[in-house]
Amino acid sequence: MRILAIETSFDETACAVVDDGTKIVTNVVASSKDIHEKYGGVVPEIAARQQLQSMIPVLTEALSGSGLEKRGGQAPLNTIDAIAVTIGPGLIGSLLVGVETAKTIAMTTGKPIIPVNHVLAHMYANFIDNATIQFPAISLVVSGAHTELYFMKSIKDLQWLGGTIDDAAGECFDKTARLLGFGYGGGVAIEKVALKHSDVRIKLPRPMMDESFNFSFSGLKTAVMREWKKHNDPELASAFAYEIQESITDVLVKKTLRAVKQFSAKSILLSGGVAANQRLREKFPVVIHVPPPALCTDNAVIIASYAYFRGKPMNWRKINATPDLSVEI
Ligand code: KG4
Ligand code: ZN
Repeated sequence: MRILAIETSFDETACAVVDDGTKIVTNVVASSKDIHEKYGGVVPEIAARQQLQSMIPVLTEALSGSGLEKRGGQAPLNTIDAIAVTIGPGLIGSLLVGVETAKTIAMTTGKPIIPVNHVLAHMYANFIDNATIQFPAISLVVSGAHTELYFMKSIKDLQWLGGTIDDAAGECFDKTARLLGFGYGGGVAIEKVALKHSDVRIKLPRPMMDESFNFSFSGLKTAVMREWKKHNDPELASAFAYEIQESITDVLVKKTLRAVKQFSAKSILLSGGVAANQRLREKFPVVIHVPPPALCTDNAVIIASYAYFRGKPMNWRKINATPDLSVEI
């Protein structure tokens, strides 16, 4: 089954064509990241305006096979069996661009359309070109907006175990990075400078190490703010980065391993932008599955894969952009 997927939940405009939920035919991602850089964060109106401009060229590339990631595939519209689209969670203006595009294609071609939850889709990056995952599995989705743990009995059967009650792990990386003066795109910046050195004077809490599967990172952010002001020494920035990364990854690894033990899981799946973090990967004492970096961050391949394994086609008239967490499909 060949699915054309569209993803516009945040600052990316992405389209992909994927066969049987696992084989990429084309994968095109256009980001407006550079434009937002000078504002220190994504400006929703600018993101949506850029997505309006990028949508048709990106879609055309994905269908013509001239995408950024060339797999030699060609995927004209008449070869597509269904259309998948992210309906949320995300920025409403951005979601609308993708959802209205997908609905228009469904209406004019009569092809089925499958609404997709962006957060759940992230974990399906692990199934692209990878048939080695054993079930049951524990899946940790760590992105700029989400930190969620799931129990996967099978590729279709998901159970939510817990998630962040305030800031997401990526958000904590981003906000503390800005505080230390590293600017936009915090996670990558923190990882880079954290390699340099640690300093015994900098000690940060490991928040919410309790028995639950929930996470909380806003207190860590406040602790960084307090300690940074107290020491008032820009030369300690890399030591702070080191300790921030240690704190976030300690919590993520501990909770994931606890879930593995409790559910006797045979595999661990990481996904989302923060899964690109090397320190997080190396802290797991067992083999884990992590998608390649381009599939960790936002893209439409994961939307197609989720739609193939778990999606349910709906009448296009009933599909609406849903910015909040009420998206359940
Ligand atoms: O999945 P994603 O591209 O977008 C969302 O759906 O949120 O994740 C972006 C997040 C950002 O917070 C970014 O700082 C973080 O992933 N990130 C990293 C790394 N690369 C990206 N965090 C830590 N270490 C990294 N290497
Ligand atoms: Zn995402």
